[in-house]
Amino acid sequence: MIVSRLRLKNWRNFSEMDIPLRQRQFIVGPNGSGKSNLLDVFRFLRDIAKSEGGGFQKAVKNRGGLSKLRCLSAQRDPEIIVDVELAEAMDTEPVWRYALGIDRERPGSRQLCLSFEKVWKKSKLILDRPNQEDGKDPERLQQTFLEQINTNAEFREIARFFDAISYIHLIPQLLRHVEFIQGGIIEDDPFGQGLLIKIAKTATHTRTSRLNKIEKALKIAVPQLQQLRFERDEDTGQPHLAALYTHWRSNGVRQREDQFSDGTLRLIGLLWALLDSDSLLLLEEPELSLNSGIVQHFAPLIYRMQRQGKRQVLISTHSESLLSDTGIDGREVLLLSPGQEGSGTEIAADIDDVRPLLEAGLSVGEVVLSKNTPQNIGQLDLFE
Ligand SMILES: Nc1ncnc2c1ncn2[C@@H]1O[C@H](COP(=O)(O)OP(=O)(O)O)[C@@H](O)[C@H]1O
Ligand SMILES: [Mg+2]
Repeated sequence: MIVSRLRLKNWRNFSEMDIPLRQRQFIVGPNGSGKSNLLDVFRFLRDIAKSEGGGFQKAVKNRGGLSKLRCLSAQRDPEIIVDVELAEAMDTEPVWRYALGIDRERPGSRQLCLSFEKVWKKSKLILDRPNQEDGKDPERLQQTFLEQINTNAEFREIARFFDAISYIHLIPQLLRHVEFIQGGIIEDDPFGQGLLIKIAKTATHTRTSRLNKIEKALKIAVPQLQQLRFERDEDTGQPHLAALYTHWRSNGVRQREDQFSDGTLRLIGLLWALLDSDSLLLLEEPELSLNSGIVQHFAPLIYRMQRQGKRQVLISTHSESLLSDTGIDGREVLLLSPGQEGSGTEIAADIDDVRPLLEAGLSVGEVVLSKNTPQNIGQLDLFE
């Protein structure tokens, strides 16, 4: 399943937005334009629906409370709305729609309340809160039905989907030396520390098949790489990844993950994540600290893995290299631009002066860059 549409009102720096989402969606914008805030919407839904330690109150509290969440420019109409549509695949009618409203705190109540919670199944409204019981006992609005097993039976699929969302902001340094961090992994492992443990826990057959796929994909970006294998340290039993690299002097050089380059480790983490589940994957600026040679391969690698794994992936980025692949469709790029009244949001393919450039064969990277530097816009005439 994929999130095919997202509507927001008063969510952090987005006062209002309504955008379709593709299976691979790049979220592009300068620093402070709201890329992380946008990804956080999906982490918020996950935090509500999480089977362990989830819930609406905690999800808001962990974000610093309502005043931090609500858009600063929301004055007369302060309700926060998060509204998503889920479809089986791209370009198909949505199967589910889940919408949630958060209002100001009720006077006298220390707990936050929902202003509404609605669920549609194939456009039929199947949950419409506040309902009669909520009217009799308003404290019920302190919890979503989504987070409660005894109230979400009719739309458990949505709860499972949100619960399975993962967010990765891979930090290769943390991924190495797994023996030091075992037991010390941050909740939900946003930094990818637990990758080796995850790989170790995967059934042998699945693990081998995934590592083979990753090995094939990696060879595109790291041509010297020959083999990628899982192994355990003979003395300590610690899990490791080992790679065989071709070398001009010998038959090959074996390395373990603590010797891999940051780029290789990041790619492995990313590719593993793409194969690991079929739920939504959020990737935070995968280009950080990598050379542009490797970053250029990201987009096609994701595409290649998606054919195998079918996982939807939302990628925040401000890397031109990452967007230099001409296989990226203008619909796959959401452009964010900071503004006084909250960030502007536009799908690249919907922008009149961008579309012809993409159709002429320029990559999104080239066009987006020219959009960010207005003096280049004059060159658009060349294509008319
Ligand atoms: N409640 C809010 N209302 C308005 N703007 C906000 C709110 N919360 C955060 N911001 C703004 O959002 C911006 C940060 O967005 P962020 O998602 O971190 O950007 P990026 O990831 O693109 O660098 C900051 O400029 C911050 O001031
Ligand atoms: Mg950010």
